This record gives sequence, C-alpha cells and structure tokens, in this order.
Amino acid sequence: MLGGVSKAFGDLRVLTDIDLSVGAGQRVGIIGLNGAGKTTLFHVISGLEPPTRGRVVLFGREVTRTSPSGRAALGLSRTFQVTLLYPRLTVRENVEVALLGSTYRRYRLRLWRPLRTHGDLRTRSRELLETFGLWPLANVEVRHLSYGHQRQLEITLAIAVDPALLLLDEPTAGLSVAEMAAMRRLLASLPRHLTVLVVEHHLEVIFELVERVLVLHQGSIIMDGPPSAVRTDRQVQDLYFGAHAAAQVARQTGGGVLNADRRDEWTKGQADRREEWNRGH
Ligand SMILES: Nc1ncnc2c1ncn2[C@@H]1O[C@H](COP(=O)(O)OP(=O)(O)OP(=O)(O)O)[C@@H](O)[C@H]1O
Ligand SMILES: [Mg+2]
Repeated sequence: MLGGVSKAFGDLRVLTDIDLSVGAGQRVGIIGLNGAGKTTLFHVISGLEPPTRGRVVLFGREVTRTSPSGRAALGLSRTFQVTLLYPRLTVRENVEVALLGSTYRRYRLRLWRPLRTHGDLRTRSRELLETFGLWPLANVEVRHLSYGHQRQLEITLAIAVDPALLLLDEPTAGLSVAEMAAMRRLLASLPRHLTVLVVEHHLEVIFELVERVLVLHQGSIIMDGPPSAVRTDRQVQDLYFGAHAAAQVARQTGGGVLNADRRDEWTKGQADRREEWNRGH
C-alpha cells in the first residue's frame, strides 16, 4: 500500500519513511497521539495530499499521482471529519444520491451490477438503511438528525458505493455515550470482505474491531501487531500514560497542550452541546 512514504509541510516532517502493506479484507486500527500524522496518512492514501517521497499502491496499481476521484473509482471510500450530507434531503434520498453517483463509474470500470431502474434504487437504499439500523429514520430530513445519526449515515454513504477499501477517521469523535454504543454496533456490522483502516482515540473501540493495530508516533510506525500485543506493550503504555500525565500538568499550569486526554473532554463538551441543540429542535 505504501512504500517509503514521507510527507513534510515545509520544514515540518509529518510522516517519515512509512512502509505499509494491508491484505484484502484486513481490519487495521491506527492509534497515536494528537499530531502523530494519522489524518495526514489517510490524506496521502486517498490522494488529498501528495507524499513528499515514496509510492502509494492501491489494488496492485501505482496511484501516487492519481487524483482522489481516480482512487475512489478504483474502490477507495472514506469519511471526513466534516459532514458531507445534504441537510434538506431525507436520509433515504441521501443514500440514493450516493448510489446514483457511484453507478456510472462502477459500470464503466468494474462491470458492477448497475442500478437500472428506480425500483433497484429503492430496494438498495432500503437494504443499506436496514443493515445499519437507520431504516426507521429513512424519511427524516438530515438536518433534523442527531449528530450521532449523521455520523452513522456518513458511514452508510461511504459503504453505499460498494468500496473495497474504507478509511474511517475517528468515527466516534464527539459522540455521546449512547451514540457511541450505536456506532460500535454499526462498525461491528461492516461487511467482512471490506478492507478497513480506522483511526481512533478510543482504544476499546479499536481493540474490539480490528485484528491489527499500528501505533503511529511522530510520523513513524513504532508498533504493528495484534491488539493483545499492543495493549500490553510497555512503550505504548508509556506513550498513553505519559500523555495523560502531561495533560494533568498542562491543566494545573493552565497550559494549552491539546493531547488525547483534553481532546476527549473537548469532544464530550461538543457532544453535550449538540444534544442540547437537538433537544431544542
Ligand atoms: N496542511 C497542513 N499544513 C501544515 N501542517 C499540517 C497540515 N496538515 C497537518 N499538519 C501538521 O501535521 C501534523 C500531523 O497532523 P495530523 O492531522 O496528521 O495528526 P493526527 O495524528 O491526525 O492528529 P489528531 O489525533 O489530532 O487528529 C500536525 O503537527 C499538524 O499541525
Ligand atoms: Mg487526525
């Protein structure tokens, strides 16, 4: 997937000489402190940022200079931090738009069964929403959904295009406890044939979902192994507990370090405010 990939923004070296190969159907978690380079890694894989050095290969093809849409056409799909939904369309209409957008390029490139009729579209959107537990909300306009449901819908749309590789950047960020449980169920029900790379700060979410965990630290992969090995690894524990201690010091001294610990507080605050807003509408 990646061969000798480095990425710098000016003098700032964000990724250094990353080699990574991921088998078809593998589920891989990526963890690491804030600023470790996780999102940048996703940008390089999906084509939003060119690497400074190295090669990107997807599905056996070199795509280092291929556009994001070209990579999507090969079978890559991803979610973003910002919501890319149509707020005034219903949940079901959003899925149907995603399905329509995917049909043409799939038909061309993979001879994937095209949606020939209106009936096909209706059936497929219903199947998808039922699979991910969103069918009861099918006729609700997206702007009326809770934040948690919007994030679930984003993943549903990312799956609607029938990708082979899915990149999820912090699917549980900002969710309340109840929303988090629903998201964990959704993640567990992702199709088994799908290759999934998921960045997460909630380690328990990662550990239950994936069979392989990469630890990214200051732009390098410092560990690559099964969850059981990563969970008990001394270096990883030092990293996370070290961050925890640093956060406490920062709080006591009024410092502004935004590390994993403080971010959780921040995202929880966001979720609480969103829930308040949702209740008021
Ligand atoms: N477009 C950019 N220009 C300059 N610097 C950038 C850019 N994008 C990211 N960076 C820097 O690269 C480093 C890694 O950022 P990145 O977003 O990849 O981290 P991350 O591991 O995803 O962190 P988080 O857990 O907070 O999401 C950070 O220091 C960030 O400020
Ligand atoms: Mg990030």
